[in-house]
Amino acid sequence: MTIRPMTADDEQAVSDLLCRCYRWIAEPEGYTEEQVAYLLSERGSLETVRRESREEQYLVACRDGVLLGVVAVSDDVVTKLYVAPEHHGGGMGRTLFDAAVETVRASGFQRVSLGTTPATVPFYEALGMRVAGHKDHVSGVFSGRRTMLMEKSLPPKE
Ligand SMILES: CC(C)(COP(=O)(O)OP(=O)(O)OC[C@H]1O[C@@H](n2cnc3c(N)ncnc32)[C@H](O)[C@@H]1OP(=O)(O)O)[C@@H](O)C(=O)NCCC(=O)NCCS
Repeated sequence: MTIRPMTADDEQAVSDLLCRCYRWIAEPEGYTEEQVAYLLSERGSLETVRRESREEQYLVACRDGVLLGVVAVSDDVVTKLYVAPEHHGGGMGRTLFDAAVETVRASGFQRVSLGTTPATVPFYEALGMRVAGHKDHVSGVFSGRRTMLMEKSLPPKE
């Protein structure tokens, strides 16, 4: 598996991967049709990927030339981490997360944080993150849902 910075040639593959992951998590997460439509048309669209990947640092995981995972970092925040569903449990999420943490650390931050769904908390706890709080959405398309806020200190390397 190779982890490398995303390029403009990856935009369509990243958009396709995100949309596949959003469809996959829709049922276990209990997303409404409106929420899925929002994720596909807003969060996973080619236009959004193109714009955000110019504003944030995106890394992709590839195997045999196929893009199978993506992680995005903005300052000290991991804003996205998705692995192709058929590859879950194979260590790709941890590898991408570790690469994101190194990106955060290299930018001089001593802490990494993120927001995620309650169901994904055990995964991030396995990576050393701890729950620092939560945000309950009271308006907008995700009204009624909870985002868990997680963080981890990054002591400088010896
Ligand atoms: C969450 C996600 C990125 C994890 O990626 P992954 O490649 O399956 O995870 P890994 O195989 O690298 O697992 C890393 C560690 O976390 C643990 N882990 C993974 N999922 C877990 C879970 N649901 N509960 C507890 N531990 C979990 C693994 O056991 C592993 O620990 P180990 O290395 O000590 O054995 C992936 O499942 C995914 O893309 N899910 C859909 C997207 C999503 O839910 N994103 C969050 C919404 S904001």
